[in-house]
Amino acid sequence: MNSVIQPEFRIVVLASGRGTNLQAIIDASESGRLLGKVVALVSDSPDAVALERARRHGIPQVVVDRKSYASKNEFDLGLLEAVRRLSPDLVVLAGFMRLLGRSFLERFPGKVINIHPSLLPAFKGLQAQKQALDYGVKYAGCTVHFVDEGVDTGPIIGQRVVPVLPDDTEDTLAARILVEEHSLLVECINAVLSGRVRTDGRKVTIDGG
Ligand code: GAR
Repeated sequence: MNSVIQPEFRIVVLASGRGTNLQAIIDASESGRLLGKVVALVSDSPDAVALERARRHGIPQVVVDRKSYASKNEFDLGLLEAVRRLSPDLVVLAGFMRLLGRSFLERFPGKVINIHPSLLPAFKGLQAQKQALDYGVKYAGCTVHFVDEGVDTGPIIGQRVVPVLPDDTEDTLAARILVEEHSLLVECINAVLSGRVRTDGRKVTIDGG
């Protein structure tokens, strides 16, 4: 039997908080369901629970603490330098709660993706699940998209729909969306790394569905 040698793509994950999406990526990688390997976690917060998750799996961590930089511009340059040194094939924002600057995005064109807990373009920015509940939508969900300079505005790679139930609270809705986030993010990472994703302006097509 011919064995297929998969290229070992280098994934750098950026996370600010508890890191369940990071965990989903690590689990997929460890069980052979990911086309790449997480070579490092970069966090903007020394208190991020995500750092502990990376530590448990022997994944190198880099903290680029916003508080250590005098200005946003200097922080952006520090972040760019930290990620550039890791030579990523893909940068995944998994609960990274800061806007990336132009210099960062120009350095990694088409290589930065983000997960957001709403059906974009609805409910961009913070507390997307609360925004959806307050608006009274019947369906919510999550989106993985390429990152541009706007807030959750880049071309959409994939989405999952989740029903909003009559007695949902922000927490119950967020939990139901999160389950979908974890599998959608892994699917989209694999699609991008396999070269099946084509972008034409805002429209993203995935060869083979
Ligand atoms: C996730 O719900 C993610 O979609 C969201 O933060 C949460 C992080 O959870 N991201 C955004 O809202 C970005 N605009 P996690 O730390 O457990 O992965």
